[in-house]
Amino acid sequence: MEDSSRQGTAGGAVPFYAPTGNEVALFEHAHRNRLPLLLKGPTGCGKTRFVAHMAARLGRPLHTVSCHDDLTAADLTGRYLLKGGDTVWTDGPLTRSVREGAICYLDEVVEARKDVTVVLHPLTDDRRLLPLERTGELLEAPAAFMLVVSYNPGYQNILKSLKPSTRQRFVAIEFGFPKPDAETGIVVQESGLPADRVAPLVQLGNALRALKGQDLEEGVSTRLLVYCASLIRDGMPRDEAILASMIEPLTDDPEVKKALLRVAELTLG
Ligand SMILES: Nc1ncnc2c1ncn2[C@@H]1O[C@H](COP(=O)(O)OP(=O)(O)OP(=O)(O)O)[C@@H](O)[C@H]1O
Ligand SMILES: [Mg+2]
Repeated sequence: MEDSSRQGTAGGAVPFYAPTGNEVALFEHAHRNRLPLLLKGPTGCGKTRFVAHMAARLGRPLHTVSCHDDLTAADLTGRYLLKGGDTVWTDGPLTRSVREGAICYLDEVVEARKDVTVVLHPLTDDRRLLPLERTGELLEAPAAFMLVVSYNPGYQNILKSLKPSTRQRFVAIEFGFPKPDAETGIVVQESGLPADRVAPLVQLGNALRALKGQDLEEGVSTRLLVYCASLIRDGMPRDEAILASMIEPLTDDPEVKKALLRVAELTLG
């Protein structure tokens, strides 16, 4: 497990992240070789935490943007804003990241509008250029700059997947849920609930994950396991915590809910 107390060169504490594979080394290789990185994986499996951890570890500032279908290229690059009667150019998070040699993280990148990919293309091939049409600048990304994007391939419809010409500009890695022992360690660390009380929750999480695809769009995330353990640690009765954090967030269908509760009974006894 990672040493969560390690200090980054930027001076802040490195957020706790327990690696589940070779992702730390891959990120470091990609950063050293100026390659952009694509993270794929289900909700709540640790993608955002991983990027925060790596940015701190590498001592780089991190600018995160949650993409949505109204997000335009100007939201990323910047725009002229009125300030006390003057119009002043204001960098967006992507431009700021390029200028600072920071890590720019675009979460749910498939949600962004088409014109966003036009901005990303010259920045994510060997040119590493960010043209700012409005100011006439052509920024060359410094070695320390890195673009990281993520998306959840599960619930996106096919129309929303990335174009090959975009995705083939990235080194990519798929995230899954950690193995039970590792996930127990993560939930213990995050919630403060002892391991002997966390282990059965993780076991239930895996039993519920096995139902994914039949009745459920997405299985229980590590995030929800952390919620559940935190509620229990705070004094909530276990079964109430499970209902509120591992059953209700997964489904609105009364029949499916009944089935999930039955799985919980069978798993936990
Ligand atoms: N490997 C891990 N190490 C440490 N904490 C983890 C790990 N995986 C998951 N977590 C915990 O799960 C929570 C959710 O993780 P995170 O927010 O990074 O998920 P995500 O993959 O970004 O999800 P989404 O796609 O919904 O944004 C974290 O706040 C953390 O408590
Ligand atoms: Mg996230």
